[in-house]
Amino acid sequence: MQVLVLGAAAGGGFPQWNCNCGNCQRARAKDAAAPARTQSSLAVSNDGERWLLLNASPDLRQQILETSRLHPTSGIRGSPIAGVVLTNGDVDHVAGLLSLREGQPLAIYAAQRVLDVLKSNPIFNVLHPDHVARRVMPLDAPTALAAQDGTSLGLTVNAFAVPGKVPLYLEDARAGPGFGTQAGDTIGLEISGDDGSRFFYLPGCAAMPPELAARIREASLVFFDGTLWRDDEMIAAGAGTKTGKRMGHMSMSGDHGAIAALAALGIGRKIFVHMNNTNPALLSDSSEHAKAKEAGWEIAYDGMEIRL
Ligand code: MLT
Ligand code: MN
Ligand code: ZN
Repeated sequence: MQVLVLGAAAGGGFPQWNCNCGNCQRARAKDAAAPARTQSSLAVSNDGERWLLLNASPDLRQQILETSRLHPTSGIRGSPIAGVVLTNGDVDHVAGLLSLREGQPLAIYAAQRVLDVLKSNPIFNVLHPDHVARRVMPLDAPTALAAQDGTSLGLTVNAFAVPGKVPLYLEDARAGPGFGTQAGDTIGLEISGDDGSRFFYLPGCAAMPPELAARIREASLVFFDGTLWRDDEMIAAGAGTKTGKRMGHMSMSGDHGAIAALAALGIGRKIFVHMNNTNPALLSDSSEHAKAKEAGWEIAYDGMEIRL
């Protein structure tokens, strides 16, 4: 199995169009220690020919342009991209679907809650059902992934609910502290290849309950939510009013952060993805970056490739 990081940044990307924080300034200045990153997405393939996107970011057009393996190879129209698996309905994970219109056969896999979001937004009908299959991915059961015509991609996904939050644009302030969040609004994925390799992808995760820790224990590879270094980081940077917790993300650092929560799980390779532009760990010369690496983590970058 091959995995490509198409975009390692969180929603907004790095730099973000309207952000003038120190990190974004350095990225705009093309500082070598602050490489720009596009929004959150991976591509995975079992055969090296047909690829499945894990999330479809608003930067998808640029990501495809920069990834030769995703370019058309034969015929007048075609794509190595066979489908998309979605982990939530957030803008940074679904807006790229709109860039995949043009009558290309595709299969979209998502939890029922996320399929309902697509269904309720008629703009997604540009992905016409004659060409694009929408398939429900049940939670806690393996789903064999297939192209639109039913041919196997040699990949299986096991989707599971993780602590998270309903998309921002669906928050219901009257629905209590969870803003109406239900199981299936944010999911993690375990992707397995027919070659026996497997990995986990959790680009959004608000907490690490024991059952989730048990699930990812001793995995050979986990991509994990790296949105913020610390919970109040956006407030401290003057870049926002919300904590990471409020946005449905656990931070990298701190007693209840991802570094601590995954430290004793015996995971082979731990890679932070979905990093917000305010996160100091994005900077390869920061003390936070060094601390994450000392703790055995890698910080994803666009174009990162992994062969399992
Ligand atoms: C998130 O990950 O918290 C969301 O993508 C934020 C957003 O909607 O931009
Ligand atoms: Mn996001
Ligand atoms: Zn910024």
